[in-house]
Amino acid sequence: MELIRIPRIMQDTCRKHLQKGRSIGVVPTMGALHEGHLSLIKRSRAENDVTAVSIFVNPTQFGPAEDLGRYPRDIEGDSKKIRELEADILFLPDDRIMYPPGFTTFIDVEKISGKLCGEFRPGHFKGVATVVSKLLNIVRPTRAYFGQKDFQQSVVIRRLVKDLNFDAEVVICPTIREHDGLAMSSRNAYLNPEQRHAATALFRCLTAASQAILAGMHYPAAVREMMHAVLSREPLITAIEYADVYDPETLEAIDEIKGEVLLAVAARLGSTRLIDNMLLNT
Ligand code: PAJ
Repeated sequence: MELIRIPRIMQDTCRKHLQKGRSIGVVPTMGALHEGHLSLIKRSRAENDVTAVSIFVNPTQFGPAEDLGRYPRDIEGDSKKIRELEADILFLPDDRIMYPPGFTTFIDVEKISGKLCGEFRPGHFKGVATVVSKLLNIVRPTRAYFGQKDFQQSVVIRRLVKDLNFDAEVVICPTIREHDGLAMSSRNAYLNPEQRHAATALFRCLTAASQAILAGMHYPAAVREMMHAVLSREPLITAIEYADVYDPETLEAIDEIKGEVLLAVAARLGSTRLIDNMLLNT
């Protein structure tokens, strides 16, 4: 595994692979790698000649009151995992090289960035869209891998790739879960044992809603009420940011359950914010 920290060198290395006719898969991450991240790396390994993993805790996607400072970092453990999966390149830039003094260009994917998480994390998707655009320009990948766990992020990235004519296929991979259904997330590390137990309420609320829909509950308001009821029964959930049924393309709340729908939830357990979602064919 080659370790590269400088965008220019990453660009040259990737260009050489492409010139030799090799396909490149890129897996952008913020590190603290878990099985969810590893599933993306495995998928890229299976589908491409070269796999590049990036680790960069991107400051522009964190709000001023968010967890940038305490975001888990474990470069040694991460490098070991990436090496074990036989990825070819680890791209590990730092803040100053990604955002040098004078940096002023941002990508804003309008409308969809303001829905769901965007309402509670203003500027978040602008930071994500900007850093992902930079990574796509540096690597010029054949395919770029993202998780369904961050559903809105995947919608934003699909949109920006289309709108800005990036020549990469966006591959969205299924959410990897703990044995009790909790979606794997680097932020699960913030939870104490009681909160970790309570966190399963997100998955329980999605499961209950999907079962109710498949059993014939067709009023979005009733589904929403049910999701909120499951979450509200859990005292360690301190805030429900949203829990509802949405159009998976526009991310708008819907007034009729028909075709493919998105069940999505964001809730807080103390200072930890967790999200989860499920796609459902009705
Ligand atoms: P991060 O949270 O580290 O996630 C990196 C990738 O792993 C994302 O595509 C995310 O959706 C995926 N992922 C996270 N948990 C997963 C799970 N349980 N199952 C499957 N995939 C999962 O998302 C980011 O970083 C950043 O916003 C980034 C795209 C790197 C831009 O900074």
